[in-house]
Amino acid sequence: MAESMKGLKRTHRCTEVSASNVGETVTVMGWVQKRRNLGSLIFVDLRDRSGILQLVFDEANVGKEDFDKAYNLRSEFVIAVVGQVAKRSGAVNEALKTGDIEIIATSLRVLSEALTPPFPIEENSQTKEELRLKYRYLDLRRPDIQRNLILKSRVATLARSFMANEGFLEIETPILCKSTPEGARDYLVPSRIHPGSFYALPQSPQIFKQLLMCSGYDRYFQIARCFRDEDLRADRQPEFTQMDMELSFVDVDDVIDVNERLLAYLFKETIGVEVKLPIQRMTYAEAMDRFGSDKPDLRFGMELKDISDLVADCGFGVFTGALENKGMVRGICVPGQALMPRKKIDALVEFAKGYGAKGLAYLAINEDGTYKSSFAKFMTDKELSAIVERLEGKPGDLLFFAADKPKIVYNVLGALRLEMANELNLLDKNEYRFVWITEFPLLEWSDEEERFVAMHHPFTMPMEEDLDRLESDPGSVRAKAYDIVLNGTEIGGGSVRIFQDDVQERMFKAIGMPVEEAEEKFGFLLNAFKYGVPPHAGLAYGLDRLVMLMAKMDSIRDVIAFPKVKDASCLMTEAPNTVDDKQLRELSIAIVKENEND
Ligand code: AMO
Ligand code: AMP
Repeated sequence: MAESMKGLKRTHRCTEVSASNVGETVTVMGWVQKRRNLGSLIFVDLRDRSGILQLVFDEANVGKEDFDKAYNLRSEFVIAVVGQVAKRSGAVNEALKTGDIEIIATSLRVLSEALTPPFPIEENSQTKEELRLKYRYLDLRRPDIQRNLILKSRVATLARSFMANEGFLEIETPILCKSTPEGARDYLVPSRIHPGSFYALPQSPQIFKQLLMCSGYDRYFQIARCFRDEDLRADRQPEFTQMDMELSFVDVDDVIDVNERLLAYLFKETIGVEVKLPIQRMTYAEAMDRFGSDKPDLRFGMELKDISDLVADCGFGVFTGALENKGMVRGICVPGQALMPRKKIDALVEFAKGYGAKGLAYLAINEDGTYKSSFAKFMTDKELSAIVERLEGKPGDLLFFAADKPKIVYNVLGALRLEMANELNLLDKNEYRFVWITEFPLLEWSDEEERFVAMHHPFTMPMEEDLDRLESDPGSVRAKAYDIVLNGTEIGGGSVRIFQDDVQERMFKAIGMPVEEAEEKFGFLLNAFKYGVPPHAGLAYGLDRLVMLMAKMDSIRDVIAFPKVKDASCLMTEAPNTVDDKQLRELSIAIVKENEND
């Protein structure tokens, strides 16, 4: 039976009570974590978002009626207790913040009763994620998830205050928008008033923040919800949050400077980690060359080594064939894995094929210096020792090689490098390795669309020294674009923007976008630029990804209160869902079933 709060006021959260309060009367409220009956005494662990506090019910203090109520308490009942703070009568529980005290209850109210939850509310739950997400409101009671969301709130608060101190203004931008240019699929919202027309939910506030620069706001900041209809992964959600900024009258170094200080501040204040400044910078070209990835994890080595020159004339057709086909041959050295069983190597070959490889060549260096290899028989001893030397292989090491077009070689070895680091437990979540990746290519070739597409977005400024190649050799033009990468995850990215008409026009041409289409899509932005535009640049963090790494979680879902699952649905609310015919009629929408469409 539920009792009311009448006349009661909470004085402390559970762990706000401490030994310094001994002798005081306090009123605490929360959920029953556990109840133990010792005959004349009943112990209850009370839980709220701050932690656990032990309550003791003794009939002599609490009276018969409330003692009986305490006897009937069950897990997750919500209660209010008035009592006196006392030193613990039993052993001190070192694991609890309040482990040296207890509350001697003088009255108890049961504010609400609870069904038995479908899984225990406890840290490090072994419960399947599907069940946890279906009952997310219960899952969110678990201390580890609560810690994550508290951390996220703290990061947002600190970021706001830091940015305000740096002269940034927080300005909201619309959610009902026209399509934005980030390149993922849009979520569309039908218009009732304009039948047949749709809003797009923003993939980012990109265009609006650039307009705010045109309007003279100088420094803009927003914690903004973004929507992208793309395939989900562990670090991707269809709706996610950006910490988004744009600055006027700046170049690359200015953006990097303010963001380094922001990151250092956030890491220090929330998780006590010192970020050493300046953060290392690496060009895109170097990152690909050494790590096969534009988001290299620098916590471990196993760098890619090019052996193309060493095998150009060798007897192994797989290598020479790839080289003749505008390809390359690269390898990585996995330390101490020479005895890897054949079965496991075969599994890695299959893994590599998943990344587009045709195969994966290997060479194990036995302790006695001899080799076990899939290709040694096609090579001279001299060639083999040159390869081993290039990869800095030592007895006991295992070398893997991929021969193919550069894109595939990078993809395969970049992924294999991570896979091996994972297996060898080289990824320490307590280590935070930041790196700026700079000088991204401006454009990338899309086989699907048979044209160049903007690698970041079409407003990204080419590097001045490459500008004259925009027409003659577009693929070689580098951009003033940068990503901030932490432990192999891209936590943020941005660029200096084009602010000159003529450069913007050439950019649209380079990506094969006719002037009319550009006008139609972004006419308002291009027009705005005609009325006096300051040079500007910006960056956006994926807040969820950032907090995921700070909290040492593997999935972005662990730092989002109500996340979606792989098929973009919400297991709790069952969104997306069908709607009434009446709603559809108002929106002038008719549903065409796929097979009726054939
Ligand atoms: P970009 O597209 O790189 O840049 O996005 C910025 C950051 O947002 C995060 N992010 C995501 N996080 C979770 N789920 C997703 N689906 C998802 N997609 C992106 C990433 C990424 O680094 N307007 C530009 C920024 C700018 O140029 O200023 C932009 O949106 O951490
Ligand atoms: P095959 O000639 O296809 O029998 O391959 C001989 C060896 O080379 C096997 O170990 C393959 O896994 C490996 N291999 C095949 N194609 C490639 C490639 N593109 N890059 C690296 N190794 C390869």
